[in-house]
Amino acid sequence: MDEICIVQISDTHVRMPDRLLKNNFDSNYALKRAIEIINAENYTIDCLLITGDLVEEGIEDEYVHLKQILNHLNRKIPVLFCLGNHDDIDAFSRVFLDRFPQTLNKSSIVDINSLDTKAELSYCIDFQISKLIVLNSSVKDEAWGKISSDALDWLEKILSNSVSDTNILALHHPPVRCFSEVMDNISLKNPDELEELLLFHKNVQLIICGHVHRSIFTSFAGSQIVFCPSAVFQYPIFMKRGNSVPTGEQPGFHVHIFKKKLGWSTHLRLIT
Ligand SMILES: [Fe+2]
Repeated sequence: MDEICIVQISDTHVRMPDRLLKNNFDSNYALKRAIEIINAENYTIDCLLITGDLVEEGIEDEYVHLKQILNHLNRKIPVLFCLGNHDDIDAFSRVFLDRFPQTLNKSSIVDINSLDTKAELSYCIDFQISKLIVLNSSVKDEAWGKISSDALDWLEKILSNSVSDTNILALHHPPVRCFSEVMDNISLKNPDELEELLLFHKNVQLIICGHVHRSIFTSFAGSQIVFCPSAVFQYPIFMKRGNSVPTGEQPGFHVHIFKKKLGWSTHLRLIT
């Protein structure tokens, strides 16, 4: 194996059937359309990762509907999740326990490490040539994010034991500012602790996140960091408080491809 392809969808904000979001966007249709596109893509995909705000209100019926929509995925690939501020870990777990992440099964995935239960929804997928590390940053009933000390300890162990220096790290809340007044106010509260770990180990090449509802490319702790657009609606650049009306830009998702010797590259796929 010398290639990995991870499709990242973010901020799907699924609602119950036939319900629109408060801003009148149809999040249910948007995810269905994204799944149709993924079904029709003509390249190999190793897994689908949805980086938080899976549903709008964090209630069980919304997760049931999310699962129904995801069942239309006709590729035999694992569907992975991390949670965002709109999610609820208890409601999510009641619906998705059978798919997350223990039952995932793909020949390219060597091992799923989620042994440390104190790290909650953090886990690691070993693709041999590189690891996908999914870190929980959601805090129940809070819009901002934080990585718990247990999750940081767990991450330290994963990074210490990694022989690859091209790992990819995924979380919902960005650890770096994006100069949106609204989003910077509800970003990750403890980026310094993450930064210290990443700078020490120097073996994460790409960080991917969601939350901001825009595609942004920047850097953090010596790594490239990419913000995934929302699959439903986008917020303005430099969003000011009281002016959080979506822009009407095309939604999209990201396709992250790893090639040996070349490392990670990210493609934006618009949802049309
Ligand atoms: Fe969101």
